[in-house]
Amino acid sequence: MLDPANLTARRAQPRSAALPKAELHIHIEGSLEADMVFRLAARNGVQLPFAGVEDLRARYSFSNLGSFLELYYSCMAVLRTEEDFFDLADAYLARASKDGVRHAEIFFDPQAHVSRGVPLEAVVDGLGAAIAAAPSSYGMSAGLIACFLRDKGPDAAMDTLDQLLHHRDAIIGVGLDSAEVGYPPALFADVFAKARAQDLHCVAHAGEEGPPSYVWEALDLLCVERIDHGVRSLEDPDLVMRLVDEQVPLTVCPLSNVRLKVVERIEEHPIAAMLEAGLAVTVNSDDPAYFGGYVEDNFTAVAAGVGLDSQALRTLARNSLQAAFLDETTRKIHLDHLDAPADPH
Ligand code: HPA
Ligand code: ZN
Repeated sequence: MLDPANLTARRAQPRSAALPKAELHIHIEGSLEADMVFRLAARNGVQLPFAGVEDLRARYSFSNLGSFLELYYSCMAVLRTEEDFFDLADAYLARASKDGVRHAEIFFDPQAHVSRGVPLEAVVDGLGAAIAAAPSSYGMSAGLIACFLRDKGPDAAMDTLDQLLHHRDAIIGVGLDSAEVGYPPALFADVFAKARAQDLHCVAHAGEEGPPSYVWEALDLLCVERIDHGVRSLEDPDLVMRLVDEQVPLTVCPLSNVRLKVVERIEEHPIAAMLEAGLAVTVNSDDPAYFGGYVEDNFTAVAAGVGLDSQALRTLARNSLQAAFLDETTRKIHLDHLDAPADPH
């Protein structure tokens, strides 16, 4: 159970860290910081193709999603044991709680680990133990969303879902990530239908590098409850109308969009236009170790970059709590904290 005493936001500062919020788009493997890469490599006797922490950090310069994914998958080689997955998630939860995150829905990539010979149990048990401890350790809750690697295709996704169903209670939902273009959501309709039949929540990356038609497919064929990224939806006015009408949450990741060249500069990020259009936008970190910051850094970057005021930041925080897969009692506790008047002290 969450202890409401631990949930009270620090209300004095006008920064978004003071705002209770949910983070809904974070790949736990993308929170693997360079120093942890080297610590785990030493612990597990894994040989790394990098000279050191600074050499690895110097490679955090990407031309697109594909060039990032190459480094992202290669760093994962150090994640081998249940303890590694515990340490990874525990470090993220500790960090996120400092940014006002009261609830996180955390992606992980089971295929990226099982394919290297890591048992699925080690992954879900390690991540799950950190999440179970989060309410008492950090005053926050979290859940796991297992993502299918779309470039491995639908048969591999279906096999993965079957394995995950042996750990049904460890996850709250399924998602779809990795290389987007060429792997439309339609390919995964049967996989998502089976997940829905198990009462798993469904989300999908769409409209990051892929076209608006991928967002339509994710809505119509996968019946997703949220779209991850979705920034390219703005290219299709009918799609924007649909997303606004149905208030489909979009988990936008501003620093990721800049680093992966989805937008050229933070000042050109369309988040203000998205809010203006009435879209249910949320702000998230995606792969914070690689993209220059955690959720608070993303709030700060868009606030400064496109000129969002404190009211807009509050709307973004509210949207995240509305979009989270929370029970209504817990959601109300968080929303009440968000809406509580500022403490003059
Ligand atoms: N897009 C797709 N797949 C991913 C990402 C992303 O931003 N991060 C980790 N896997
Ligand atoms: Zn992502």
